[in-house]
Amino acid sequence: TKPVTLFELGKMRAEGRKIVMLTGYDASFAALLERCGVDVILVGDSLGNVLQGQKTTLPVTLEQMAYHTECVSRGANRTFVVTDMPFGSYAESPEQAMRNAVRLMAAGAQMVKLEGGAFMAETVRFLVERGVPVCAHIGLTPQSVHQLGGYRVQGKSDAGAAVLKADALALEQAGAALVVMEMVPSQLAADITNSLNTMATIGIGAGVDCHGQVLVLHDLIGVFPGKRPRFAKNFMEGASSIDEAVTRYVTDVRESRFPGPEHSY
Ligand code: KIV
Ligand code: NA
Repeated sequence: TKPVTLFELGKMRAEGRKIVMLTGYDASFAALLERCGVDVILVGDSLGNVLQGQKTTLPVTLEQMAYHTECVSRGANRTFVVTDMPFGSYAESPEQAMRNAVRLMAAGAQMVKLEGGAFMAETVRFLVERGVPVCAHIGLTPQSVHQLGGYRVQGKSDAGAAVLKADALALEQAGAALVVMEMVPSQLAADITNSLNTMATIGIGAGVDCHGQVLVLHDLIGVFPGKRPRFAKNFMEGASSIDEAVTRYVTDVRESRFPGPEHSY
């Protein structure tokens, strides 16, 4: 099969084929995700939580993200690789973001992801014009957990919903190809998805009507200790192998069977 490219992701969006994203942090799992049909591997800064045991993603460094990107890109041949820019590596200026995105692209990332709404639009444009595809991330943005006051649903008020919608439009106009929407009411996520023309929405706790879905690998295979968030489904239940669990996730997303209302807000 041919490699997944930015062009192919745009085609999937246009044709209404769901984009299946899943986090991965090493070569072995990258190969597994690829053979199970995952379209996009996200080297997420959630590695701070699931690999390092940190309470937040804030301590994750650029060099750690680059290292895991190298590992993933050795295991993935046709899967599109997106890497999170960690806290403190991009918000200062477009120039700082470009310099650090270059490090991640050199490590094998084909797109970088950064958190923030309209205020990041100038930086998104700066990167895109210079050859760095961008995935935005709005709603619950974990790098801002201390500003947001916890991991809670975003855009519940009319005013909050209007801000999120304006954020999405600004990011699309700036050239972001994808946007992760995290912990956003399903109705609002659907409304935003329908209001966009080019940018594909990838939901996590944002309902079934997004153009695609993402989950944290460790939640999907049920190995992350502690309380699982509402949107995270353990696909190992009833599966006899990790391959089977990941394949079920891929199929369930493709056929709009995941997420269900019980995983949404
Ligand atoms: O770091 C991560 O895993 C993420 C996803 C939850 C979208 O940003
Ligand atoms: Na992240």
